[in-house]
Amino acid sequence: MPTIAVATIVGLRTAITAARDVGRTVALVPTMGALHAGHLALIERAKEAADLVVVSIFVNPLQFGANEDLDLYPRTLSADLEQLSAAGVPFAFTPSVDEMYPHGATQTRVTAGQIGSLYEGRSRAGHFDGVLTVVSKLLNIVRPDVVLFGQKDAQQVFLVRRMVADLDEPVRVETVPTVREPDGLALSSRNRFLDAKQRRAALGLSGALEAAESSADRGIDAVLAAAQSVLSGDDQIELDYLKVVDPATFLPVDDGYRGKAVILIAARVGTTRLIDNATIFLQGTQGH
Ligand code: PAF
Repeated sequence: MPTIAVATIVGLRTAITAARDVGRTVALVPTMGALHAGHLALIERAKEAADLVVVSIFVNPLQFGANEDLDLYPRTLSADLEQLSAAGVPFAFTPSVDEMYPHGATQTRVTAGQIGSLYEGRSRAGHFDGVLTVVSKLLNIVRPDVVLFGQKDAQQVFLVRRMVADLDEPVRVETVPTVREPDGLALSSRNRFLDAKQRRAALGLSGALEAAESSADRGIDAVLAAAQSVLSGDDQIELDYLKVVDPATFLPVDDGYRGKAVILIAARVGTTRLIDNATIFLQGTQGH
């Protein structure tokens, strides 16, 4: 069955109400389109988690800064709908900017707070307020039982989970591990902007995470040094940040920290901004 693209809020609510009336549960996979295997992994998990899967495709202007790639962001709706049909997704929610923001950018925003201004939020001011505002709108429109996000956007996942807890949103948040190319590159809609040389350089991000993971038994300094040495090995990689954070607070860990941590990397390769992360288990400190 071809996926039905529903462009209006009223139309989508009608379709979902009909499904709910016969007792079906609903999963939402929010996306900005340019779908790849990472999105398909979210959809596969969503199909296990609920009876009806809705995929939203909306390039959300609120989460792009003035100097960012809103206009260049890939828009591939007909190819996306083909992939969704092949994946057995009945409905795609494909609103226009006017449908989502009929009065222009919303005056009311969900604010992402302190963590929203760190790392990605430091480099992209207002980004997470824009993400949380649109996610909140999508949750209100679809009212899903479960909403799914990729672990590649680790900070986004942390902030969405916190918003859902803080605002008592009646939805379960699930995450799906990052999908990678066989050589380690994390899938991203922005990878298509990399030429062959840049794509090779981009492997420095996953390479740095691997180096970090294999140094985790020697503590945080060793982890950072190992990752840094891979990242500085290619002059096409312009590092934005390299941080190790506590997954419970998303604050940077201190020297004495032991246990599960998340290492975050953001870098520009050419004009393309890439992010990646991995969970590591910090053990000793250097010299111990
Ligand atoms: O991760 C994304 O693609 C976007 O940030 C999201 C969650 C769809 C909100 O626009």
